[in-house]
Amino acid sequence: MVATIFLCHLMLTSSNMSAGKRKLISFEGLDGSGKSTQMALLEAHLRALPADVRTLREPGGTYIGDRIRNILQHDQNASGMFPETEILLYEASRAQLVREFILPALKDGAWVLCDRFFDSTTAYQGAGRQIPLGAVHWLNRFAVDHCIPELTFLFELPLHLRQARLSQRPAKAFDRIEYEPSEFFRAVTEGYRQLAEQEPQRFVIIDTEADPDSVAEVIWKHVYEHFFPR
Ligand code: TMP
Repeated sequence: MVATIFLCHLMLTSSNMSAGKRKLISFEGLDGSGKSTQMALLEAHLRALPADVRTLREPGGTYIGDRIRNILQHDQNASGMFPETEILLYEASRAQLVREFILPALKDGAWVLCDRFFDSTTAYQGAGRQIPLGAVHWLNRFAVDHCIPELTFLFELPLHLRQARLSQRPAKAFDRIEYEPSEFFRAVTEGYRQLAEQEPQRFVIIDTEADPDSVAEVIWKHVYEHFFPR
């Protein structure tokens, strides 16, 4: 890995081939799939180039978004939330994040790594909550405008592994969506799979059963080939 980073550093200093590409990369998948760990590894690799890297997670990432995140995820009195309310709150958080954080960062020439973005809404609220996809796509587009990731890494986690992985994690704050039955997560997984089939040029499917070092290598290879083609 160190050798690869060194090689990339040389290439980066001798050319600027990522210019013109939106350096926006998203990480998607079920909780427990390892996406946050891999995003942190990619962040470290890019910083070592060196590069300006900004990271975020959805929902949240701004003052308004963090307030919305609290209602969406951690407020135990919000269990009666309707799917329509839920999707609008995710989109509201996203609309703020895009304008306040992502677009200015891209304008500065920074890399932006997102732990979830609008594909989460298509998978969770579209496939999971069964909100009609036409409405989901329209709302996604309204929230992000033209801010579409260049690359999306989809971490496919078999459902039988999800529960095992989540139970190994240190206890975290109450998360409303995590209380959904397994059929919900099956539908979300299927929703993600369909998205990846529809946009094979953007999506890269990651095998979450592989060891973390080789996953990091695969991710780096894709970033490198996508942004610094020979
Ligand atoms: P996380 O930050 O721990 O990944 O939790 C975010 C939760 O919110 C997770 O259960 C997925 C869910 N979610 C949606 O349902 N729709 C969305 O658009 C986003 C961004 C997240």
